[in-house]
Amino acid sequence: MVLYIGVDLGTSAVKLLLMEGSGKIQKIVSKPYPISFPHPGWSEQNPSDWWDGVVEGIHELTADCDRSQVAGISFGGQMHGLVILDEKDAVIRPAILWNDGRTAKEVDELNNGIGREKLSSYTANIAFAGFTAPKLLWVQKNEPENFAKIAKIMLPKDYIAYKMTGIHCTDVSDASGMLLLDVKNRCWSEKMMDICHIRREQLAQIYESYEVVGTLTPEAARLLGLPESCKVAAGAGDNAAAAVGTGTVGDGMCNISLGTSGTIFISSRDFRVDGHNALHAFGHADGHYHLMGCMLSAASCNKWWMDEIIGTKDYAAQQAQIESLGENHVFFLPYLMGERSPHNDPNARGTFIGLTMDNTRSDMTQAVLEGVAFAMRDSFEVAKALGIPITRTKICGGGAKSPLWRRIMANVLGIKVDLLESEEGPAMGGAMLAAVACGEYPSVEAAAKAIVRVVDTVEPEPELVRKYEEKYRQFVQIYPAVKGLFAQWAQ
Ligand code: XUL
Repeated sequence: MVLYIGVDLGTSAVKLLLMEGSGKIQKIVSKPYPISFPHPGWSEQNPSDWWDGVVEGIHELTADCDRSQVAGISFGGQMHGLVILDEKDAVIRPAILWNDGRTAKEVDELNNGIGREKLSSYTANIAFAGFTAPKLLWVQKNEPENFAKIAKIMLPKDYIAYKMTGIHCTDVSDASGMLLLDVKNRCWSEKMMDICHIRREQLAQIYESYEVVGTLTPEAARLLGLPESCKVAAGAGDNAAAAVGTGTVGDGMCNISLGTSGTIFISSRDFRVDGHNALHAFGHADGHYHLMGCMLSAASCNKWWMDEIIGTKDYAAQQAQIESLGENHVFFLPYLMGERSPHNDPNARGTFIGLTMDNTRSDMTQAVLEGVAFAMRDSFEVAKALGIPITRTKICGGGAKSPLWRRIMANVLGIKVDLLESEEGPAMGGAMLAAVACGEYPSVEAAAKAIVRVVDTVEPEPELVRKYEEKYRQFVQIYPAVKGLFAQWAQ
């Protein structure tokens, strides 16, 4: 039986999924790795930890199967991270991740010095802290000796593909988040290379997500215990891969991911840009395009609240104490790592507001879940203002496992939330891209049609939607009221 491996190179762990050609999941394995926050708002990881996790994880994943049957591997990877290699392909410094906020100055230089309109005409996007181009400018200014050594600029999952194949590759969806790609034409932007003082040969070869990059090198095959004939497909940024895994392909489909980050992803057959660039306009893994809003802390807010503050691993027990929805007068701003969409403010911080003596721990737990949903609605509103009719969404990611959070999401957004047989978005999408690359399906859309199944739907409840509408109107006033303080604290 032919098998495919999907690798979801996440922020807290790498998740690996073994899929049969029919789409049936045989096994899932997860290998956590550390993340370091060397300064408040900075975030880094060692690419060698990713590779070690992948090697160990693939061994465990394939321990009980016929390894000679593994025909293809592909990826969903945390986006935007800057991985720089020297001329011997050695990693120069730890990777600077997607949720790192150190580039406020460089973002300002790009958006206000070069100008938003020019950036948008070159790349379909403006600069956000966390995107790759501002990080390159940061390295150039703050670590000139490292900048001088750069032979290759890579994204996280592309580093893993390089370790497997020896080829420096990337894909359109992930490259879109570098602010170096001409998204509309799916090629590198000469203008952006000039602005970032880099050369074409420092960038990787661009593929579509479902294209074969190469096969395993003899060394990688030996290390992974897989056949050298195993094909490696380019894969996608984790959100585009999650969209494939949830069947969010073709036109006007929506997926919400509640992972470390929170994203709302709208697939589009045609290229389009939101006039204010509040949503990212990126290439999709199905060969077309998508719009996306990204909040930097979503399920990670709940994880922080549960693990660090309350000190429990039993999230369900805490959520079971929440009695009534739509009545909470405590609000939470989920900006623990600053915020991307739609505020573009790396200095924003998390905030509880509205507390009174009668409040309980459970009101605060509820405020965390609701705060994430309200912040997601901010991006949803931008999409609605573009005239995109969204009446239902898929949902995936760790947060999607909570029935309470799914209900809150359906009612805060006022749309139907479809639950899937598997909410393993990016890992599933990675395996599906590998299957398409190996010819198991003629296209990404065909694979999604054959494999993805909706098993249930959470319907919005009109009375609760009305209550949350009022609460959302209050929520949107909080950030503007405290924004000045965040800016002062950042001085
Ligand atoms: C998307 C983004 C995050 C990361 C998380 O723009 O920054 O969703 O991809 O891994």
